[in-house]
Amino acid sequence: MNPEAKKIALRMISSGLYILTSRHGEDMSAATVSWVNQASFTPPLIMMGIRTDSHTHAVLEAGKVCAIHFLGRDQQHIAEKFFKPVKHEGNKIGGMEFETKITGAPILKIAPAYVECKVVDSLKRGDHSVFVVEVLEAEVRNATEALGMRDTPWHYGG
Ligand SMILES: Cc1cc2nc3c(=O)[nH]c(=O)nc-3n(C[C@H](O)[C@H](O)[C@H](O)COP(=O)(O)O)c2cc1C
Repeated sequence: MNPEAKKIALRMISSGLYILTSRHGEDMSAATVSWVNQASFTPPLIMMGIRTDSHTHAVLEAGKVCAIHFLGRDQQHIAEKFFKPVKHEGNKIGGMEFETKITGAPILKIAPAYVECKVVDSLKRGDHSVFVVEVLEAEVRNATEALGMRDTPWHYGG
């Protein structure tokens, strides 16, 4: 295989940028993720590729709940805050205010839309695991155009 061609081809997979939060007891995580896609209409399933060595992976595996936040095109700076591990203090994670609803996963107040989910399956292969999650609840605070990787100078993939 030509590794350069593989990298360029795989980076042609179009992806969005989302903030994934999760919770196990008082342990909370928040990270920017891009390997996210819908996987079924009924039930509504989403699949996500999550780094096995991340805090998010450990919390998702143990707590089995998450919230996936959709960002607007003008919210690159929010995505940037969650590229690295963040701290949870009181009602803030990574310095951003959150509330909790049905799953207990942190719901960022700044996100224009989010879904709350439970983990229904996972598959550990390579350096990321695939988590399959079922959407339990959704809220749209203001409908806006979603932030995509192509709106940014960033890459994750290859
Ligand atoms: C543009 C971009 C996209 C990313 N997409 C993913 C992803 O899809 N899955 C993932 O596990 N990590 C992804 N990351 C890395 C996570 O953001 C990073 O590992 C995470 O913030 C680590 O925090 P944690 O250890 O608290 O989970 C991405 C990073 C960047 C810069």
